[in-house]
Amino acid sequence: MGMVTDSAMVVSAHPLATAVGVSILQKGGNAVDAAVAVHWALAVVAPWAGNVGGGGLMVVRSANGTVHTLDFREIAPAAAWQDMFLDGEGRPVGRLSLLGHRAVGVPGSVAGLFAAHDSLGELPMSLLIQPAIDLAEHGFSLTALEAKELNSKLANIRAASTRPSIYTSRSFWEAGDSLRSPELARTLARIRDEGAAGFYHGLTAELIVAEMQRGGGLITLKDLAGYRPIWRSPIVGTYRDLEVITMAPPSSGGIVLIQALKALEGMNVRSTGWQKAATIHRMVEAERRAFADRAELLGDPDFVPIPAERLVSAAYMAQRMADFDATKATPSVQVHAGDPLAESEHTTHFSIVDEDGNAVSCTTTLNGSYGSGVVVGEAGFVLNNEMDDFTIATNTPNRFGLVGSAANAIAPGKRMLSSMAPTVVTRGGELFMVLGSPGGATIPTSVLQTLVNVVDHGMSAKQAVSAPRFHHQWKPDTIRVEQNAITPDDSLTLVRMGHSFKVRAPIGRVDAILVLPDGRLEAGSDPRGDDAAAGY
Ligand code: DON
Repeated sequence: MGMVTDSAMVVSAHPLATAVGVSILQKGGNAVDAAVAVHWALAVVAPWAGNVGGGGLMVVRSANGTVHTLDFREIAPAAAWQDMFLDGEGRPVGRLSLLGHRAVGVPGSVAGLFAAHDSLGELPMSLLIQPAIDLAEHGFSLTALEAKELNSKLANIRAASTRPSIYTSRSFWEAGDSLRSPELARTLARIRDEGAAGFYHGLTAELIVAEMQRGGGLITLKDLAGYRPIWRSPIVGTYRDLEVITMAPPSSGGIVLIQALKALEGMNVRSTGWQKAATIHRMVEAERRAFADRAELLGDPDFVPIPAERLVSAAYMAQRMADFDATKATPSVQVHAGDPLAESEHTTHFSIVDEDGNAVSCTTTLNGSYGSGVVVGEAGFVLNNEMDDFTIATNTPNRFGLVGSAANAIAPGKRMLSSMAPTVVTRGGELFMVLGSPGGATIPTSVLQTLVNVVDHGMSAKQAVSAPRFHHQWKPDTIRVEQNAITPDDSLTLVRMGHSFKVRAPIGRVDAILVLPDGRLEAGSDPRGDDAAAGY
């Protein structure tokens, strides 16, 4: 079992960010205050994914049952166009959607944190951001994993940025090295003193635009001034006796999650057994169909109509599974879909429950590790490469191997489709679980498997997040598995049914909180990273 606390808990990707969250709760902040403070802290101590230059999604469930979901996803700049990453023959140009200034979407995080705080926070913002400013100013020690991650991205950051930065101040980082970022501290101080305007207007905005101009990027002062986060209606579905509350489009994550859960409801997963062929087959076939829908139908709901309610209905999913064959794999139609890059996880999720029972589930991202590799000169923060989440051309897979359609084509001001699935689960109107994960296309899978592990296989939160995972996303038509995720016998059974396998790097980094029957909280911090839980 994971760490257990009586009433309040923070689980995040970094021990220092977790500590900041707990200290805010102890000062009387609610779960949203803690979430905002954790997000600011992650921007400093987890610069590979924590951010001010990216975007995210937040699901808040108040103790009284009210749900709020906030979309602070990045948007395409006004000067973006559908074929901006293609050459004259319609072929993608190098890694243009992933590296450098063109890859950057207009950041949403700072506006998102202020929106969440304005509506639901209680403590002053200056108190919530100060720990991050202090960490940036005084420095903190890199973990071994962080040093390794930064080393592996140094060449990208050097190539993409037009100015030196703290990240490139050494040619090799080691565990224990101190990362101090006075420039980032000053950026955060401007935000503390001027509010969201300290980022979207004034000096920070000017530094971002100057960086864009030096590097051939598209973002203008007008793009920054015009960015707005959006409160959206959640996607809500039931799974057995649970209510699953998750993020609506522009994320596909919630819809894919509920579709897969619906497909599983019809079978007794507990009796077919954890990680046994029959169970895996059903989950894979559900994912195959859900991801096919994603590719064809999903995009920014402000640009394309999305039949969300229908997609997550039991009737639709029953119809979708009608051709399910319990004995054979259904081959995905052949297209030239590429392999998702086997990389470590570069988004970050955190889960928080406060002593009143308010819950926050938040996933935030730069997309790739260190995003576009562009560090804003003199402002000390990394910009995202979220533009790659658009479908840059039909049948051209993105870095997660995801293909898409016109629904997710680039257009000015449009939000790129996400897979992030911050989720809160209730049972009988009571909080049951808070969870989410990084991992691009594998996010809904990781959330799905963690939830099923708890609900159907009776695991503790810690066991559920630690258990090895497998993933299928329609195309490519292969089950991705973590090392030793499936026994040789079950693998063989699945191969005979027509499935194929590929072993890949760890899938997901789920940070979950489970409410135990006696009301105490159990942490599920993913052992795949530095993730840490704390509470009281
Ligand atoms: O929004 C999305 O789906 C992606 N930009 C998330 C990226 C991610 O999880 C990176 N981790 N591997």
